[in-house]
Amino acid sequence: MNALSMTKAEYEQKARQFAKERERVKKDPWRLAYHIMPDSGWLNDPNGLCQFHDIYHIYYQYSPFDIEGKVKLWGHVTTKDFCTWKQEEPVLFPDCRYDLRGAYSGSAYIHNDQLYFYYTGNVKLTDRAYDYIYEGREHNTMLVTSKDGYLLSDKKCLMRNEDYPDCMSKHVRDPKLYEHNGKTYLVLGGRTKSDQGCVLIYQMKDLIHFSFDRLLTTPQTFGYMWECPDLFDLDGQTILIACPQGVPQEADRYQNVYQCGYFLVSGDIEHSLELESFQTLDYGFDFYAPQTFVDQQNRRILIGWMGMPDIPYDNPTCERGWQHALTIPRVLSYHDGMLYQTPIAELKALRGEKHSGSVARFNDYHILERVYECTITIEQEASFSIQVRNEVYMKYDVDTKRFSLHMGADGSGRTVRSAILPSLERITIYSDTSSLEVFINDGAYVFTTRVYEKQAHTPLSINGKDLQGSVVWYKMNPYQWKS
Ligand code: FRU
Repeated sequence: MNALSMTKAEYEQKARQFAKERERVKKDPWRLAYHIMPDSGWLNDPNGLCQFHDIYHIYYQYSPFDIEGKVKLWGHVTTKDFCTWKQEEPVLFPDCRYDLRGAYSGSAYIHNDQLYFYYTGNVKLTDRAYDYIYEGREHNTMLVTSKDGYLLSDKKCLMRNEDYPDCMSKHVRDPKLYEHNGKTYLVLGGRTKSDQGCVLIYQMKDLIHFSFDRLLTTPQTFGYMWECPDLFDLDGQTILIACPQGVPQEADRYQNVYQCGYFLVSGDIEHSLELESFQTLDYGFDFYAPQTFVDQQNRRILIGWMGMPDIPYDNPTCERGWQHALTIPRVLSYHDGMLYQTPIAELKALRGEKHSGSVARFNDYHILERVYECTITIEQEASFSIQVRNEVYMKYDVDTKRFSLHMGADGSGRTVRSAILPSLERITIYSDTSSLEVFINDGAYVFTTRVYEKQAHTPLSINGKDLQGSVVWYKMNPYQWKS
């Protein structure tokens, strides 16, 4: 085994040795009640999302025995209802010549009752020193198939760096399929040799042969690399989600180390496509590499990585043996020029007793729980603040329309993020033991962040003497895990 490869047998042996460590991880009070987390080690991007034979399969980048996320395999959980879950064995291992330094991110495609997983095989040459950007790295487009989502076929390497256009650096990865007008396209994220982030689009002749269609990017360079592209049509609009790296900060915008957002795409793939301006998908600290899929109810569901690569601070769960989580599933819709994210309806089954508050008592409204869903509907805007943890506040300034999330020590290095809203109508907070997902105006603006409360829990309190509105909240029950 080299430092970054891992066969199934090596995984199984190490997992046995890790049983005790996983027991320790389970006891951490910062473990989340209704989110997907690694049972030990590191998790990043959601991968291969699909609903197949009535089962939702959620795979994810997983580094089970290493808190820094160095070895990348595909972890796996399943559910039928997003409330009861099963932890499955990992399915995909970095164990062949084409993915020896990581079974990187990829996606699922269902065809003729079979699953096709396209992913990136990462290889780093070690015979001499390389920059690993322009040389010394292979990004191979790989395929594995499956009849059930658990057992995968042998791996096939479909495209290698020399198959991508000459202008590309060695960073070309994260395949995702796009279907339009009966044709299927493969979309890859990339970095050109002149450090321009872009996507590559290939027409698929069949499920294993491609012809290069185009390189799509912005007229002016917008970051040096775009990761995890996801191109889809939704409610009459074509949308490209991508994660650009290297975008300079502009006042309040682009404050995270890397960005995640979407371009509205004009035109038609059979003719010309153009990217319009980039809009942030989530204004919080911990949101990256989301992936979408369409389920049997025809919902476009998004799940993101509730984390971020190369963060300039340490997550305090590391010393407790684990790091990162996935967001709750969110259903996407598009209207009025914006993408909206709505927590998936199935989560309502986790709700406990309903509580509601009157407008007159708004100034001292408290929620004692830490794991809850709460919606505040605003009838008359005013400046206010909501304390959500000892040292975490959300604030709204009615004059500037600025909504901000302020984290003190409980942010563990996270500070302030904000967005300017057209108006404030509704705030829905999904609070878990160590995370917050805040949906504003029915999901037009979202703030996702991890939060690590160090002292006893401070109840939520809403303070704004001129504010008028109502509040409804439910304690949330945890996900059920079956073996
Ligand atoms: C995004 C990403 C992908 C890559 C994967 C590796 O977070 O860097 O581009 O495929 O993670 O884990």
